[in-house]
Amino acid sequence: MAIETGSAMRCFPIGDLSGLILGLLLGLTVCGQPSAAADDDATETSPAAQEHESGRGRGPGMGRGMGRGFQGGRGPGAKVGNFQADMRTIHAMFDNRDKIRRSVMLLPDGAESLTESDDEELAAMLKDHVPNMDARVLGNAPLPPMTFHPVFVALIKHADDYTLDYEETDKGVKVTYQSDDPYVVMLVQEHAKLVSRFLQNGHDEIHADYELPEFDEVTAAAKAKALKARGMLFTTLSSRLGEVIKAKGPAAAIEVCSKEAHVLAENVGEQLGVRIGRTALKLRNPANASPAWAEPLLSATPSVATFVDLPHNQLGALLPIRLKEACTTCHGPVDTIPPDVREALTAWYPDDEATGFQVGDLRGWFWVEVDTAVATTQGGR
Ligand code: HEC
Repeated sequence: MAIETGSAMRCFPIGDLSGLILGLLLGLTVCGQPSAAADDDATETSPAAQEHESGRGRGPGMGRGMGRGFQGGRGPGAKVGNFQADMRTIHAMFDNRDKIRRSVMLLPDGAESLTESDDEELAAMLKDHVPNMDARVLGNAPLPPMTFHPVFVALIKHADDYTLDYEETDKGVKVTYQSDDPYVVMLVQEHAKLVSRFLQNGHDEIHADYELPEFDEVTAAAKAKALKARGMLFTTLSSRLGEVIKAKGPAAAIEVCSKEAHVLAENVGEQLGVRIGRTALKLRNPANASPAWAEPLLSATPSVATFVDLPHNQLGALLPIRLKEACTTCHGPVDTIPPDVREALTAWYPDDEATGFQVGDLRGWFWVEVDTAVATTQGGR
């Protein structure tokens, strides 16, 4: 069976980022809208094509923290600035890319990037650049030449299929993309990583060999479903637990947990058409023993999301659960657990092994089984 691991949330801290690209990318990307440049019109991106837009003046862009995306509708609402001025900004950022830092976080449904500089002028450029490029894309105005990179081409083609929000920070700009389409999630993540590489490697990266990753739609949709189920079960369990603890205290919550935890998991499973549960190496409830397929994987204590192909068109997912402060009341070192909680645990779980954990420890895993035969598929790309 094929095993693949990868954390659902990965961080790519990148120290000295740079440039031109940054600019470009940042903005563009951020603003990826369909434009002639996406398809075939090379001249659209050349500086010479700027005349037709000069004189429109520089507009205020989308404004701080304003989101854009399909909810916002599409249209030439924002004012397009001067192409040469925008290119000068891009070049200035490129020349100073060692003073720009960027980090990217990949999320189950998109990506988040933070691009900043301690240099005030550069920070101001970063802030301006995003709305400027956004206006350019929205107005179908000429785009910088690097939008011919395959990542940009694909992303701009799918500009209607993701949303982006941007927000100024003290020293730069934070951009968040989100999509419900797993293929587009891959694209926005590729884009975020590409921008970082551009900043690291400069011009070389623009022409570096690159191919969009192979994309297996069905598997990606199944993975997305597993992550969604995990999110729903986590939220449901946390809010129910919080409610009971608040009303009756943690000792009373033990009994509620013992009666409801499984039911809540079944409900989420039914709602999404998956099977889901929680498991661990040190179990509280022996009924939470892992499904057979997960056993060999658990012994390796995977600390990142792990996916595995199962027979009969099933995808299995193991998604790590870490201990938080709030969990220590019932899972921390025994001598720190309140006496009434200890008593309730002994009463309901005589074989309890799930104590002695510290904050941050790997407590266990959500396991999910998704039927890939019914996973959603989308049309051609
Ligand atoms: C009020 C006490 C309480 C708190 C707080 C609590 N748990 Fe639990 N936990 C339990 C009980 C009781 C069970 C057994 C539920 C069952 O019977 O399925 C359990 C089961 C589990 C399991 C399933 C595996 C097993 O050992 O049976 C995991 C994983 C888990 N808890 C993680 C956490 C995490 C992470 C937190 C904090 C976010 C947390 N728990 C907070 C009481 C608690």
